[in-house]
This record gives sequence, C-alpha cells and structure tokens, in this order.
Amino acid sequence: MIEARVIVDDQPIGIISPRVYGHFAEHLGRCCYGGLWIGRDAAGNTDGFRTDVLDALRELPVPLIRWPGGCYADHYHWRDGIGAPATRPATLGMSCGLHVPDDNALGTHEFLSLCDQLEAEPYLAGNVGTGSVQEFCDWIEYVNETVATKLTSERAANGRRDPWAVRLWGIGNESWDCGGRFDAVSYAHEYRRFAAMARHVDPRAEFVAVGLEDDGLPEMGMDPHWNARFLAELGSDVDLVDHLSIHRYWVHGGAEAAFDEADYYALLDEADGTERLIERTARTLAGAAKPGHPISVALDEWGVWHPEARSWGPGNVARRTPVTFEQANTLRDALAAGIAFEGFHRQCRVLSMANLAQIVNVLQSVLATAGPVCVRTPTYHAFALHRVHIGAEALRVEVEVNVDGSGPTGRPALSATASTRGGGFAVTLINRDYRRSVIANIRAAGAVSSSRLLAADSPDAVNTPADPNRVSPRHLVVESQGSGSYSTVLPPHSMATIEFAARGAERH
Ligand code: AHR
Repeated sequence: MIEARVIVDDQPIGIISPRVYGHFAEHLGRCCYGGLWIGRDAAGNTDGFRTDVLDALRELPVPLIRWPGGCYADHYHWRDGIGAPATRPATLGMSCGLHVPDDNALGTHEFLSLCDQLEAEPYLAGNVGTGSVQEFCDWIEYVNETVATKLTSERAANGRRDPWAVRLWGIGNESWDCGGRFDAVSYAHEYRRFAAMARHVDPRAEFVAVGLEDDGLPEMGMDPHWNARFLAELGSDVDLVDHLSIHRYWVHGGAEAAFDEADYYALLDEADGTERLIERTARTLAGAAKPGHPISVALDEWGVWHPEARSWGPGNVARRTPVTFEQANTLRDALAAGIAFEGFHRQCRVLSMANLAQIVNVLQSVLATAGPVCVRTPTYHAFALHRVHIGAEALRVEVEVNVDGSGPTGRPALSATASTRGGGFAVTLINRDYRRSVIANIRAAGAVSSSRLLAADSPDAVNTPADPNRVSPRHLVVESQGSGSYSTVLPPHSMATIEFAARGAERH
C-alpha cells in the first residue's frame, strides 16, 4: 500500500472559469444529429433535442458549448440553417476529410435554444476557409444586434425578437490545416480583416484566433512557430485577439480498451503534458500581447482520440472502417480527463476556456446514445466529480508520496487539485497507480460534507446499455483521525472528490 500526504496551500491561484468546463458539438458523426438533435417528430424530444441527453447534461452542468465545428465550421454557411425547416437546403458539409450531409435542421436558432435550455454559454465558430468577412459580420448582426435592421427583422420573423448577446466568436478552425492550409502570416492578414470588421459590428464580442501548439510539430510537418509568427504579423493589431485557440488530442495510449499497463501510463502521461502546451502558449502570448490587453489560451478541443476512431496517427490496432469517430470510453479516459483538469486549475490565470471533444457520441464524449438508451460514460462522471470546482478559487496542493513513482515515467502515484468557495473547500484526488491502493492523509479543520469515489475493478471498465453504472460514483469512506486529520483509501486507478464544509486544510 502506498501512503500519501495531501497539503492544501492557502495561496489561491485564481478563479476556475466555468468556461474551462466547456464542451464541443460538431456536425460530425452522431454528435449533433442523433446525439443532440433528433427532430421535433421523434419520440423523447424536447424542442427537437433528446430529452434524456438534455437531462443528463443539465446535471453536469454544461457551462459552455462550441458549435458547429471543428473542421465543419469552415464549410458552414449560417444562412442555410435559418428559416422554416422545410425551406432549408440540403448541403454537403465537410469535416476531418469526410463528407457530412446536412439537412440544416439544427441551425443557429436551434443551437442557441439548446444553450438557453442548458444555461450554457454559446461559442460560435465562424467560417474563414470558405466564408467571407461579410457573412461573418452578418451572422454577428443577426445574432446580437438590438437595432431594427433587415437582418434583425429576419431574426424576429424566424421567431426570435430579442438578441442572444453571444460573446464568443471563433475566426476559423485549424486554419493551418483543414481550415484553409494558411501559413501563419497569411492567416494573420485574414484574421485582421475578419476581426477588425466584426468588432465594428459588436465591440463586446470576444474573438478566438487559431493558434497551433503541440508536441512534435516539426515531425508532423507543421510550423512550431505559428503562434509567434501570427502574433508578430498582427503587430499593433494584436489587440484584435482575445483568446488564442490550441487543440490537444491524446493519441499515444494504444487501443481504446484492450490496452496494457504501459499504454495505461502512456495515456495518463500524455494527459499530463496538456498543461505544458498551455504554459508554452501562455508564454508566447505574454511576450506578444499589448499592455492592458492580455490574451488568454482557449483549449477549445481536447481529449483522447483512440486509434479505432481515426484513420491517421499512432496506434498499432485494427482501425474501424468507416470511421465513425465513436470509441470506447473507459475509466482510464476518465482519469486522463481528471489529470487534465488538475492542469487547467493550475493554469486558470491564463487558460480562459477548454472544450471537451465532443459532447455526445463522438470521441471522448460524456454521453453515448444507443437507440432509446443514453449512457453516461466514465468521463461524464469525471466531470461530475469536478462540478464543485466550477467557478471556485483554485488552491495550490502539494502531495508527498512515500514510495517511488508509478509507471515508466515515475510520476507520483497520487495527484490532487483543490478549490475553495464560501469558506468550504474541496479536494479531488487521483490514484494513478495501475495496481496499488493509496492511503491518503489530508489535514482539514472542516467537517467532511461529501465524499465520492469513481473506481472499478479494472481501468478498462466501460459503461454500456446493459451495464450503464459499472463505472459510476459511490460513497467514499473518509475516517477522521482526530485533530483535523482525515484518511481515506483510494483503490488502484481511481478518482475521488472530498468536500469540507469549512475551509481549513493544513496551511503553510
Ligand atoms: O474533433 C474532431 C476534429 O478534430 C475537429 O473537426 C478538428 O478541429 C480537429 O482536427
């Protein structure tokens, strides 16, 4: 048995923005169509969306959703998705090298009503690759303008008199590849035109520029200096950027479910590495931003992308064809998400947004639908265990472990993140060890008000329609040792959140 001491520092890092617990919904596979939208005639719909999906998402909660892509955004023309559904055209969208036929039943009004229903902030991704500055400006006017104009009258005729006041607007997606294969300099010129003109339309809009940061960019034939070049080319117009987007997919964990111990640690290490990308991007931004106009990092796609759900990249396993972007979601994936959240909390002063890819059915989704059944994946429960941290103030945590690290890279077996709100505080612990339990000792003055554990007999455990709760939170026994000391045992490959009613962990 491993022993660990958890020390929560009282030096706050910053507020964990609710936007950091965001999601991403693309017109891709069964995410938007089938997962979210089933139409107003289908059984079990609420205003066209799956009621069971809405209910599960509301519980999480979902503070932010990015839509309609992804790569899809750079082929999307918003006017195709407004007006009476019968009049909307069938169009051929594109994403990830595939054709995405779209009847446009889910358009701007439907997506924004989804956000209203979930109390989620919308983040609309604009089309640079095949779109125009005028089209982008018109979309912003249609959605946000208060003054009576041709476009706002059209909005009212389509059923929405009041503007939605959408703040977040993306200017392209992965413009270095699927979004148009720009180089950093030519994208900067496009970006300047889009952002400058759109800012006239809505000065309160926040613009997200396309960045690029990842490990091994030169090996992939990509520009490792994209961010610096793009920002330098903008020069004094760099204040047209509010957030710089980066994406991080974990692809080195072997098979989705039939992974071995080395693969297990490889995925968790890759999840850990996400924080380095945020830090690197933040350093570049700090060197380029104008005084008084900080630019923050928007990790607007993140998560695991297993080889079975893609045709490219590492992974010596049989690929499923055709690619549906659907993959098994195991307890290991939930732990990887928890590890990412630790980094998000530590970086909360520079990370303004993070969006899991994707919300339903596709990639590391929190929900998987199968016919009439909606299954909560282990990753759903990882999000649920972190609910208490949303909007709270992140605290530094130190963990001391009595044995050498776990896995080939020797990282400590236990990691933790903590936050405080209104005098109480919460700590989330992850036992990353593949085989061994960890006894965690936590010093805290307050009383335990809630303690929940996410664990399973094996890290490859999944939830299925036949066994939907195999990986789901249960009560965790936390014993008081007296004098404000608590101990608990975390089984191998598990995650737990303990909440204390009054803040008072050991300080130093
Ligand atoms: O999430 C799937 C795809 O991954 C997105 O469309 C794209 O932005 C990224 O490459």
